[in-house]
Amino acid sequence: METIRRMKEPRIFSIVLAAGASTRMKSSRSKLLHRLLGQEIIVHAYEQALKISEEPPVFVLGHQKDEIEKCLKNEFGESQFQSTIQDPPLGTGDAVRMAMKKIGGSIGDDDLIFIMGGDAVCLTQKSIDRLKSEHISKKAVLSFFTAFLNEPAAYGRVIRSGSGMVNRIVEAKNASAEELSIQEVNAGFYLVQKSALERCIQNLEKNSVSGEFYLTDIVEMLLKDQALVLGIPLEDSSEAMGINTQYEFAQVNSVLRNRVLLEHMANGVCFLDPSSVWVDAAVKIGKDVEIGAGVLLKGKSEIGDQVSISAYSCIENSQIGTGSKVHEFSHLKDSVLGPECEIGPYARLRPETVLDAKVKIGNFVEVKKSHFKEASKANHLSYVGDSEVGARSNIGAGTITCNYDGFRKSKTTLKDDVFVGSNSSLVAPVEIGKGSIIGAGSVITKNVPADSVAVERSKQSNLEGAAISFKEKRRK
Ligand code: UD1
Ligand code: CA
Repeated sequence: METIRRMKEPRIFSIVLAAGASTRMKSSRSKLLHRLLGQEIIVHAYEQALKISEEPPVFVLGHQKDEIEKCLKNEFGESQFQSTIQDPPLGTGDAVRMAMKKIGGSIGDDDLIFIMGGDAVCLTQKSIDRLKSEHISKKAVLSFFTAFLNEPAAYGRVIRSGSGMVNRIVEAKNASAEELSIQEVNAGFYLVQKSALERCIQNLEKNSVSGEFYLTDIVEMLLKDQALVLGIPLEDSSEAMGINTQYEFAQVNSVLRNRVLLEHMANGVCFLDPSSVWVDAAVKIGKDVEIGAGVLLKGKSEIGDQVSISAYSCIENSQIGTGSKVHEFSHLKDSVLGPECEIGPYARLRPETVLDAKVKIGNFVEVKKSHFKEASKANHLSYVGDSEVGARSNIGAGTITCNYDGFRKSKTTLKDDVFVGSNSSLVAPVEIGKGSIIGAGSVITKNVPADSVAVERSKQSNLEGAAISFKEKRRK
């Protein structure tokens, strides 16, 4: 029996061009470090590159390279990407040459290279899959995406022959008036066979108008060698959007934001007013979740099943357990909530707050670096910082943990089933024993043993009738 020879799928490596200076953003920070939906543009670029292959992408860096590398290291770890320096930036062709110097030797001749700009991060998985499958099935040597734009501005124009095949890409700077009127542009995403790319990249010539080496010149070079070059139109031209100005930043932000919301809606999340809600790219949301108007879900937050988050609340890098409710105007940051908690309205949970199941934190309560155990409560107007609150304990209105003496922070411990009367001050370090009661208005500076009543306030004296004589004197 004849052995069936299966075509080996080529491996795909990606290059992210990110050495440009981003002057048009008018920002001192590289545009690649501006945050779209809670993560830097360069982080989006990395994730986009990973949509085509899991090989660690190669970044060509220049302007603010240290800051960009640091960001990538923090997010993905040092071993998960490679970088090379291009200085000065002599054009996209030169940038790819630098990248190939770095990786070329370790890659097979028939492997593929995906090339993208670090500032174009709107490509969907669906489109990337299409680029890959068309390239492989049609045995192309180079495939790139094109887009039809009403105002093609600075994009390279795609010149096709009468039969519709790509002839070349002409940069706007080099284009004739007639060529400038073409609306099909090079979107700047390429998939190309490694050996062909290497051959062309060595022979690129400096463009006489701009003084740059154009990656796009490889189209004509490949066609001269009778290689197949595919210009594949994107179904949705918004995927071609790059970020060069603050205006484009805002447009891309809005495109990505809508995509994220649509994806959550497709998974069953109910947004009462999606047009006012922002959900960062990395946020995870469970089933049967209801999100009110103006809510911000930021960073790496995780929202459990059956949670409701009411209007104008902001949740940042926090986890919210199943069935919990966050009422209006609450602010949660770096906090972890168990199931069935109830927060707000107008509550503030600051970093390192941990709430076990069924905890209630009510209006105008601020909690910082504290652990509330199951079913404990602080319902009104309190500050609880650096504290441990036992199960079923109740913190009365206006209670303050005095955790800071102007020099250092100290801890307050409430054991289980403690009742703290309203308007009390707990001066840390202090511990209240299990089952104890603190009388309202007390300033507690000493530990309280279990099952005790602690009261600290001066004796009340009632001078009967004194109010009448007091008022008469004042009237005279
Ligand atoms: C390039 C294409 C153009 C296409 C457009 C799509 C060329 C010559 N032209 O335009 O046909 O329509 O992208 O967005 O390739 N970069 C470097 N080093 C350099 C120059 C650029 O790393 O020396 C990086 C930039 O940081 C950027 C990306 O490459 O991330 C694209 O460069 P940019 O200058 O924005 O694109 P154009 O050259 O205008
Ligand atoms: Ca007192």
